[in-house]
Amino acid sequence: MIYPIFTYGENILREKAKDVDLHDEGLSSLIADMFETMDNARGAGLAAPQIGVSKRIFIVEEEIRPGELFKGVFINPKISFSSSHTNSLTEGCLSFPGISASVVRPYSIHLEWYDENKKFHSENFGDIEARIIQHEYDHLEGMFFIDRIDAIDRLKLFMSLENIRNKKVKPFYAIV
Ligand code: CO
Repeated sequence: MIYPIFTYGENILREKAKDVDLHDEGLSSLIADMFETMDNARGAGLAAPQIGVSKRIFIVEEEIRPGELFKGVFINPKISFSSSHTNSLTEGCLSFPGISASVVRPYSIHLEWYDENKKFHSENFGDIEARIIQHEYDHLEGMFFIDRIDAIDRLKLFMSLENIRNKKVKPFYAIV
């Protein structure tokens, strides 16, 4: 089932999401619906709060280098290390249609999480993988990529952000 996507201005996006119960019966259908919704909207990542579900789960599916697919389900993720070395990359977000901005973040991270089979993982990620994970992880904390850009860049986005908040922006995918 394709869900409409909650966009900037919707309160649920600012909430800290709750831990997922790994024995939750509805978990596999939630994951399937998230992939369907993300594919439909042509996103690289999607966090549950973006479809109105305030739970700590996000998914990723993106060809990060030619022929190299980064795909995964991240349940109850924990970033246990962030490098002091940073990089700047352009980010966009399905909850911010039409907006992109350069964001500085740690270049590499260590992440612990459960996958869709309830298997525990503990791995390092760098560069684009780390970037996508950190962006999606922020959604579970009620944070946005625009919170991490400098004040002047944010000021430049002010009208675009107001237009999203006032539902004047109509992307090709369904929004709330
Ligand atoms: Co996002």
